[in-house]
Amino acid sequence: MTAAMINRRRVVAGAASLLATGSLPLRTSAAAGAAKELRLVAAPARLSLVGAQHPATEVWCYDGRIPGPEIRVRQGERLRVVVENRLPEVTTVHWHGIRLPNAMDGVPHLTQQPIASGGQFTYEFECPDAGTYWYHPHHSSSEQIGRGLSGSLIVEERDPPRVDRDVTWLLSDWRLLKDASMSKDFGNMHDVSHGGRIGNVVTVNGAVQETFEVRAGERIRLRLINAANARIFALEFEGHAPKIVALDGQPVEPHEPPQGRIVLGPAMRADLVLDMTGAPGQISRVVDRFYASLNYRLLNLVYSQEPARRAQTVSEPLRLPANALAEPALENAERHRIVLGGGMMGQMSAAIMDGKRTDIRTLFQNGLAWAVNGIAARGHLHEPILSLSLNRSHIIELVNDTAWHHPMHLHGHSFRVVSRNGQPTRFREWQDTVLLAPRERADIALVADNPGDWMFHCHILEHQAGGMMGVFRVA
Ligand code: C2O
Ligand code: CU
Repeated sequence: MTAAMINRRRVVAGAASLLATGSLPLRTSAAAGAAKELRLVAAPARLSLVGAQHPATEVWCYDGRIPGPEIRVRQGERLRVVVENRLPEVTTVHWHGIRLPNAMDGVPHLTQQPIASGGQFTYEFECPDAGTYWYHPHHSSSEQIGRGLSGSLIVEERDPPRVDRDVTWLLSDWRLLKDASMSKDFGNMHDVSHGGRIGNVVTVNGAVQETFEVRAGERIRLRLINAANARIFALEFEGHAPKIVALDGQPVEPHEPPQGRIVLGPAMRADLVLDMTGAPGQISRVVDRFYASLNYRLLNLVYSQEPARRAQTVSEPLRLPANALAEPALENAERHRIVLGGGMMGQMSAAIMDGKRTDIRTLFQNGLAWAVNGIAARGHLHEPILSLSLNRSHIIELVNDTAWHHPMHLHGHSFRVVSRNGQPTRFREWQDTVLLAPRERADIALVADNPGDWMFHCHILEHQAGGMMGVFRVA
């Protein structure tokens, strides 16, 4: 650990105790104005997810609602969040996609002690990049996120682009029993070794939605967040041509996705510009077509009878200003290789567990079914599988040697997806989570400019728990 990191940790602890006594907190950065302060309480609650004709569901959530409160800050603003844990077990909060100091990353044991039941922890950091992010626990993620702990974190551009409405859809997937209670089979080995905990109820902002009301002629910025444990979405807005303008918070060349389908693996986000080109009174479906046999209607876009908002829908594309990410120099980048293995219909017969070569049966008995570079990791604290020299450019080849999709997430950085299966990508998109199809390979590139030990893991939370994670050390 570097001296700077230790200092930062002390400063933050100091700010927390000052906050408790009501004195003015220290300013840690000259550039910072007043920090935006808020309190988040993680606790059990009873909420209606599937509508009034069913009983309410016992959930775990932030501030008694699902999703948790939408946190909005301006780009460059400091955020200070006191998280109070009223759950029956420890927790942490991870600020997914935000490039923040390692000590604020919310990874139990690796970056902080977990927050005890009845305890609290103060997170404080700046939000350097405008865009769509989210927050969630990083302890027992499969169960804690699966029970409802998640919320959106929106970092507004300094000069926000003009749209008629800025709307967030946080998508969640639940496994509910007939009485609308939560199925408690979290982390069962079938889910772990197959596609993860896919549920039977999909909600938009915490409720099954029949309709989303729109007005002819309006332009909507729609921020999609996939907060599901395992479900991958491929959303089609029938009769409309949404353009993707940002992925994982980072602006991208505005484009219509292939086949008009917006594909989002768990943890991924897309900002869409949705021009309401239909007529007053029209109804159009939004359909999820990711799993061939499981197409379903997410909701209906219902046009009001009001006359069109303007004579002609806005046609100029909406371009977001780029964030200040360091551009990786590909010619002299250091190269690394990460191979994902395991799962059903895979060839993995053994992997390293707790430093020892372990056969697949024993791995299974220990809840493990996956490996990264031959290591099936348990818990968050381990020797790095990769060391990235600080402030250098790196290309990491990700090889999915399994029969399953994996949305692979790196903490603390955004990376460019520069190629897939050897073919350059069209948009060289910045992402913090890259979805790999079965047997797919992708090259990602980044400047490792954020020192610390950072998690790299599959965001299908049952895969993560089943060994598909590791630590990258940036030093
Ligand atoms: Cu969204 Cu390691 O997390
Ligand atoms: Cu996975």
